[in-house]
Amino acid sequence: MSLVRTNLAILGLQWGDEGKGKVVDLLSPKFRQVVRFQGGNNAGHTVVVDGQSIALHQVPSGALHPGCFLVVGNGVVLNLEVFQQELDRLQARGFDLTGRLMLSDKAHIILPHHIALDLWREGGANKIGTTGRGIGPAYEAKAGRMGVRLGDLHHPETLADRIRPGYEEVRLRLGAGAELPSLERVVESLLRIAEPFLPFIGDTQNHLVAAWERGDRILFEGAQATLLDIDHGTYPFVTSSNCSLGGLFTGTGLPPKALDKILGIAKAYTTRVGSGPFPAEMHDATGEHLRQAGREFGTTTGRPRRCGWFDAPITAHACRTNGVDGLAIMKLDVLDGLDEVGLIVGYRTGEGTVTTKLPSCAADWKGLKPEVKYFKGWASTRGITSHGKLPAEAHAYLEALVESVEVPIAYLSTGPDRAEGCIYPGTFLEPLLA
Ligand code: IMP
Repeated sequence: MSLVRTNLAILGLQWGDEGKGKVVDLLSPKFRQVVRFQGGNNAGHTVVVDGQSIALHQVPSGALHPGCFLVVGNGVVLNLEVFQQELDRLQARGFDLTGRLMLSDKAHIILPHHIALDLWREGGANKIGTTGRGIGPAYEAKAGRMGVRLGDLHHPETLADRIRPGYEEVRLRLGAGAELPSLERVVESLLRIAEPFLPFIGDTQNHLVAAWERGDRILFEGAQATLLDIDHGTYPFVTSSNCSLGGLFTGTGLPPKALDKILGIAKAYTTRVGSGPFPAEMHDATGEHLRQAGREFGTTTGRPRRCGWFDAPITAHACRTNGVDGLAIMKLDVLDGLDEVGLIVGYRTGEGTVTTKLPSCAADWKGLKPEVKYFKGWASTRGITSHGKLPAEAHAYLEALVESVEVPIAYLSTGPDRAEGCIYPGTFLEPLLA
């Protein structure tokens, strides 16, 4: 297969934290452009290179590969202060992004009052369990035509007027006692923080169209995941962007035909952080075992993640929504050593019937109980690099998983290190990862 036109999207199929960072990092050396297209510093991924681990939130994972040009598309919301901290951390480890980073002039800026509003809401009864990073209010300001874009930084004289309407609304909402910096302070500190970024701000749509036309390979790195998508997730317990495939096109300005393949990432079990429907959740010792063995604590907030068996109906929904060509199944080794391993094949309703259909309304999830099929456990898959060497029991489990989501496995991760995993022969990933 020719690699030239393999522009690839990497998308999460559960509620985030599937291990996209490891896959993007593995694939990045084969791509010239690595692109973020939605989300902000609610995302968090740790990439490990030569024993060095670096936590990134907004900088695309290709940062650690000097041959990658990094693009932050227009669909992203950016906290520039946090971005600077990430650049400093990278610089301290010897990774310089000068000359290989472009930020869209249409990307929106997360401002201090967005964070204040997010935290204020999370203190109330309608808590979503957000990351508290101001993501929702920044996207609301964008949709409400009160957002501030990176391109506005080129016009410092009008910046206060751009920021004022959104700022005033938040001030009204939070009341006089709210601890908000003054508008002058917001403008002044934004200009100071933004100054080093000015040379990086540009027309990323043009940049990407030109890259596509000359045949540069492009890797699109999704943040969060389909069940957190504002339209296709478990609304209202979702993030505020389209984390599924549609967001890639609106978030870059590229047309669908610029994309060749879609790799969907899912853990061999399911986790979720924050509130909202999660039928797989296990409150028992097995759930705790998954949390400890899988180190299931948030990269961004440190919160313990809710854990359960692999939920086939939600993953099948995500595969359909994104038109996934192949699966990357992550963290299979976390299931090692269990007597039995469960797979959720449907939900039992209050009437006693079994369905695989996902409710669109949060209230309708409440009556659903997972219908679990159990498989015999196995001793160890840790570090296995060829799927032919997997224990027969792990094979049986994975076969049932594939059958339930109707998408083949292309990559299987068997440990945190980049060498720990199997590339499935004959899949579109083989020539890319070989
Ligand atoms: P927000 O994106 O901070 O507004 O949070 C909305 C919901 O998305 C909350 O349940 C968060 O826990 C969840 N969320 C946001 N980003 C991530 C992520 O990168 N991984 C997992 N959950 C996330």
